[in-house]
Amino acid sequence: MCGIVGYVGSKQAAEIILEGLARLEYRGYDSAGMAVYDGEKIRISKTAGRLKVLEESTRGGETMPGVLGIGHTRWATHGIPNETNAHPHFNKDETITVVHNGIIENYIALRDLLKKHGYEFQTETDTEVVAHLLDYYDKGDPLETITKVLHRVEGSYALGIIFASHPDTLYAVRKDSPLIVGRDDSGCFIASDVPAILKHTRRVFYVDDQEIAVMKADDLAFYSIYGERIEKEEVYVDWDADAAEKGGYEHFMLKEMNEQPKTVTDTLSPRIRDGRIVIEELNMSDEELAAVKKIHIVACGSAYHAGVTGKYVIEGLARIPVEVDLASEFRYRDPILEEGAMVIVISQSGETADTLAALREARNRGFRVLAIVNVVGSSIAREADAVMYTWAGPEIAVATTKAYSAQLINLYLLALKMAHVRGRLDDDELVDMIEDLKCLPQQIELLLGNQKRIQRFANRYIGAKDIFFIGRGIDYSIALEGSLKLKEISYVHSEAYAAGELKHGTISLIEEGTLVTAIATQPELFAKTVSNIVEVKSRGAFVLAVTTEGNDEIEKNADYVIYVPQTNPYFMNSLAIVPLQMFGYYVSVGKGYDADHPRNLAKSVTVE
Ligand code: G6P
Repeated sequence: MCGIVGYVGSKQAAEIILEGLARLEYRGYDSAGMAVYDGEKIRISKTAGRLKVLEESTRGGETMPGVLGIGHTRWATHGIPNETNAHPHFNKDETITVVHNGIIENYIALRDLLKKHGYEFQTETDTEVVAHLLDYYDKGDPLETITKVLHRVEGSYALGIIFASHPDTLYAVRKDSPLIVGRDDSGCFIASDVPAILKHTRRVFYVDDQEIAVMKADDLAFYSIYGERIEKEEVYVDWDADAAEKGGYEHFMLKEMNEQPKTVTDTLSPRIRDGRIVIEELNMSDEELAAVKKIHIVACGSAYHAGVTGKYVIEGLARIPVEVDLASEFRYRDPILEEGAMVIVISQSGETADTLAALREARNRGFRVLAIVNVVGSSIAREADAVMYTWAGPEIAVATTKAYSAQLINLYLLALKMAHVRGRLDDDELVDMIEDLKCLPQQIELLLGNQKRIQRFANRYIGAKDIFFIGRGIDYSIALEGSLKLKEISYVHSEAYAAGELKHGTISLIEEGTLVTAIATQPELFAKTVSNIVEVKSRGAFVLAVTTEGNDEIEKNADYVIYVPQTNPYFMNSLAIVPLQMFGYYVSVGKGYDADHPRNLAKSVTVE
């Protein structure tokens, strides 16, 4: 998964491209490159490493004059991250160049075929076949050339293309990888995501699968892969550009953790009216909702962990059976979906390839899919039958915090709504639980006030090799996410275990001084988890407990305790996760890592 930006118009392209790529580094950051038509020929500059290396080598774009250009920031899939494999890629005469986000799945067959026709390959990438195929089919009409190429390539792509023979035109096309087109008075833009061009324009077109955009300084047209003209609607984007800046924090992750009270309020309040939950976007009557027999939640990463919490909450409150699947498993396991089932996919980015594939699998079988998504207009949002957005705003740090918190809120709202329409909660009980939800933002704010204390504690563990997280029920789902937060940004090995399962494996790994984080917020399971704390303590573990205010007796067994405020036990994740996010963040910072850009990870995984 990578970021692409392009421009054609009356301004200098290089500067616009570098600025745009800087906003897309969360999509990939192991190498970068840019191609600009300089009035005579296409010039390319590429560098390994972060974008700032490219910025320096082109003196902020100054060394690459021209008003037509494309750029790319890469997260390697095919071929190691180096200068050669960085995009853009050329055809043999250096007259056609391309940037690509996605994977050309049949690239080996295409490469063999092209080699037979005398083409030589310079890189290990799948993308280079596109440059040579464009060359192979080029008879002087770029639109026709592109349509021919699209009939030969399989897989996913967002492509930005320049032909030296048409130095006033930028071409772009997509399938299963994100791409938007923007327009201002000076010209046209392409980008993988809106923030890349927000500085210049808010007038945007969402390119759909297999649509080709043909852009000039003063003209913009869309075509199908059969070359037919398509009319598309311009969308005005009213995002706050400042929301994507760091706002004074050291990292986006810290900023985003601190935005959680607002995120929760923004996601919650539009859906609460007069003591009732109103989820208009579901487009389902109360009767239809009450008739749902089973729910399948499908997601990846942290979104999957939110889904695990969702299972406990929906099953507990509404008594509807819920299955939670990792999207990469769901799509290939021929899942049994029976009449009356509802499928919910959860994704911050709305572009995760496995989640998108799971959505398509469910829809192909005739099931209604509800998407819980953060990015408006993303692929998952556009293909789902209904979208319940999380209103977290752009999330830049790779490790999700605020979007995850917003996902929990949407799941609670769904659970409460379903419980109410099924008669499992009466009006008064619903009102009480809504009041608990409304208190969450303030309670999260309180927990965020503990930053210094958690930082001091985290500093003691920057040398840790293994850290374990345990909990039961909802506490187990919190452990899963707490453990992921830690390992993904601090590179400390950690595992989450259902506390009752400890004796069947993990306990053999506990040694003198091993940190075990025990989450014990669920009243009915509290005593059981305390027993598990005793088990690890007696094997030498140092125990950090996260529990609810009032559970002071835990201090007899745990070595260090973090208290979270009281709320309904079903909503505990929203509070208990906050100190765990901070713990992961401060271990990462203490080790001197870039918490926003963990190695080997990307924000949006648009490949399988
Ligand atoms: C990537 C990210 C994770 C994220 C997962 C799912 O692996 O690094 O933080 O949870 O994708 O992403 P999504 O955008 O679908 O929520």
